[in-house]
Amino acid sequence: MNLSVQRAPESISFADVQALVREDMQKVDALIRRRLGSDVMLVNQVAEHIVAAGGKRLRPMLVLLAARAAGYQGVQHYQAAAIIEFIHTATLLHDDVVDESGLRRGRETANALFGNAASVLVGDYLYSRSFQLMVELDRMRIMQVLADTTNAIAEGEVLQLMHVGNPDTDEAAYLRVIERKTAVLFSAACRIGAILADAPEAIEKALADYGMALGYAFQIADDVLDYTSDAQTMGKNVGDDLAEGKPTLPLIHALRHAPADQAQALRRVIETGGLESLDLVIAAIRGSGALDYTLRRATDYAQQALTALAPIAPGAETSALELLAEYAISRSS
Ligand code: IPE
Ligand code: IPE
Ligand code: MG
Ligand code: MG
Repeated sequence: MNLSVQRAPESISFADVQALVREDMQKVDALIRRRLGSDVMLVNQVAEHIVAAGGKRLRPMLVLLAARAAGYQGVQHYQAAAIIEFIHTATLLHDDVVDESGLRRGRETANALFGNAASVLVGDYLYSRSFQLMVELDRMRIMQVLADTTNAIAEGEVLQLMHVGNPDTDEAAYLRVIERKTAVLFSAACRIGAILADAPEAIEKALADYGMALGYAFQIADDVLDYTSDAQTMGKNVGDDLAEGKPTLPLIHALRHAPADQAQALRRVIETGGLESLDLVIAAIRGSGALDYTLRRATDYAQQALTALAPIAPGAETSALELLAEYAISRSS
């Protein structure tokens, strides 16, 4: 996909971004591993199961890049990045229970393997470990940002729950959900990089705005992949959103633009959930132009993310952040 936006002339790829932060990311991974452990065996088993599966490590990458783009020279960004990944991992453990998902990062989910109780409790363990790590950082502003962020994520997931099975959910309601459940963590990742660097307020705001817009783009693209990708590529099952009657943007748009009989069928599918009608739903989504529309919305947010970067000085990290805006909407997993 082409983002009709200004990009750095020297075009870089996601692999280049990974290469740029590779050494730093190794330090972050080592830190995550070192601080994951518990003498309660089940905690280790469940935490290890999801952490060892990897994931893209996008959010810790944002912390590192934002810190460096803002001129940070110290070493606290490793711990900040690990904290963000702990929070993210905790939300995934909880999310897969709530969504009754069976596949994550190409593996059976923790809930499928160890059960819901163990997943929820180890999610809590990771959340609380992230707060222990924050206290060690001893930066009150970062504590404040992350306390607000984790609180907003919890609200976002509950808000989303309130819309499950509701075919009258509209785009505005959907956007309110994804801001809290996803975008605020992207924004916080970037903001705490700036805070560590003691960046001027305008720079902190620019990076936080970038992260917020990127998070929207990322989640909207994720909601497209849920209908268009496959388990092998994504490492998650397709149709998870539909299975639980979660009205995401492709479905919301299709419902309003499909012919009346199809729209009626879509309403029923949202109300009941289940995958029996997946083919019908995919046909309606494709036929009504909902995929194009949804990807356009994702592209708008990716564009906003790029625009937000304007006050940030050019450099390798800034180029990497630009690339990630494009990656968020063109990725396949
Ligand atoms: C999954 O996030 C949750 C969403 C916000 C869609 P990622 O796609 O970043 O998950 P991992 O960490 O790479 O597995
Ligand atoms: C992810 O929402 C948001 C959080 C984990 C807070 P999804 O339910 O869309 O994420 P996936 O598709 O399961 O990764
Ligand atoms: Mg989910
Ligand atoms: Mg999803």
